[in-house]
Amino acid sequence: MEIPQKVRGMQDIYGEYQRYFTFLKKVSRHEFRKNWFTRISTPILEKVDLIKRSIWEDTDIVSKEMYNIIDKKWRELVMKPESTAWIMRSYIENFLDETQPVYYYYIEPHFRYERPQKWRYRQFNQIGAEIIWEIDPVLDAKLIYIWKSILDSIWLKDSFKVKINSIWTSKEREKYIEALKDFFANKKQHLDDNDLHRLENNPLRILDSKNPDTQELLKFAPKVTDFLKKESKEFYESVKEYLEILGVDYVEDHTLVRGLDYYCHTVWEFVDFSGRSQDALGWGWRYDELAKSIGHKTAIPAVGFAFGAERLIEHIMEAWVKLKNKDVIQLYFIQLWDEAKKIVLPLNIEARNKWLNSQLSLWTPSMKVQMKKANKINARFVAIVGIMEAKNWVCQLKDMESGTQEEVKLENLLDHVITKVWKDSLDFYDPAKDFIIVEPIKTEE
Ligand code: HAM
Repeated sequence: MEIPQKVRGMQDIYGEYQRYFTFLKKVSRHEFRKNWFTRISTPILEKVDLIKRSIWEDTDIVSKEMYNIIDKKWRELVMKPESTAWIMRSYIENFLDETQPVYYYYIEPHFRYERPQKWRYRQFNQIGAEIIWEIDPVLDAKLIYIWKSILDSIWLKDSFKVKINSIWTSKEREKYIEALKDFFANKKQHLDDNDLHRLENNPLRILDSKNPDTQELLKFAPKVTDFLKKESKEFYESVKEYLEILGVDYVEDHTLVRGLDYYCHTVWEFVDFSGRSQDALGWGWRYDELAKSIGHKTAIPAVGFAFGAERLIEHIMEAWVKLKNKDVIQLYFIQLWDEAKKIVLPLNIEARNKWLNSQLSLWTPSMKVQMKKANKINARFVAIVGIMEAKNWVCQLKDMESGTQEEVKLENLLDHVITKVWKDSLDFYDPAKDFIIVEPIKTEE
């Protein structure tokens, strides 16, 4: 019988890749916490209505890329392809009475039924953040700054650029879209199928066309700036001014559009310099009308951003910095006799209390076989306890880097190894530091 393989477009995350993911999560968590964001997790499944009302009704995501599920009562559910609508739904359900605005971040798996390729998976992780309830251009600029700080901290400093644009308000967009449609009405014969589809279904996306003929025509198309009201212009100018104050370099890109009704004002994208088609590291935008489109009676201003974690991880792995490996075994016990095993087992446990990662060989084949294994797992030190050593309460300690060996008393072994290993690699974590003991409240009799 064939063993089932993993589902296409989904990956097992382990080893070095997992270590980079942990690093990325750690950096992001710290950056968010410093800026008063708290973490939120929303369910993987939601009712299909949420996504239809909110997200991409006429886009590929809804028409082709959703993972739909019919539950046992024939309800249609969908696995989350993104988190913004999920968080807005949760906000309306849970946080309307909280101190506003609310700042949330998430690190969550997402699902899109796309054609799998490098940088594009069917299950992928996003690290994202949303600020809800406030409209202030400083928030848009600060979010961009926070993401830039994260990329700087993970050493991708010079590997990306920030593109920004304004897509104004939905009313202004409507007028502009009409003008754009009029302009292309007698030029359809010059458009390819893709651009024709865009013109019909999502006209703003035509600004994003990669077809050189369309790009040429666009030079003569109506300019959006002619359709903007003073407030929209001022909002965009303020975002740029704040970005300058925060020292964020950006380029303006007026083709940067996503044509959903509830987007407004700022959109931005972080792209790498690779020039490959999947160069988007993350997208962000303001979405003041989303709450209304999912059924809330009023608009709720909000702004957010999400990075594709896999894209960042693969970038860091290709960069010239290497992550320290903290999953190493610093001390590996080789025992050559069953009685020796009883001696090293308590030491193996005590090592754990001293933040030292250790492991012991479980059965007792030849010394050669055990040494081979120690080598294979890259153990830093090996403590060998044979019959004589056990009797004399010592071990032979082998430094696997230098190849030298010395006899060490067992009672000194752990402290001795600790002085020799690289301090950073000790795995300090004391769960007790994360809680406070609360005295039970005494009630009067
Ligand atoms: P998005 O542009 O659809 O935006 O996705 C954000 C990022 O997720 C992309 O820039 C990309 O790095 C990564 N990504 C998307 N699809 C895949 C895939 N199939 N495989 C690997 N990585 C992928 C959103 O999802 C919005 N919710 C972002 C947002 C939050 N806007 C406001 N708040």
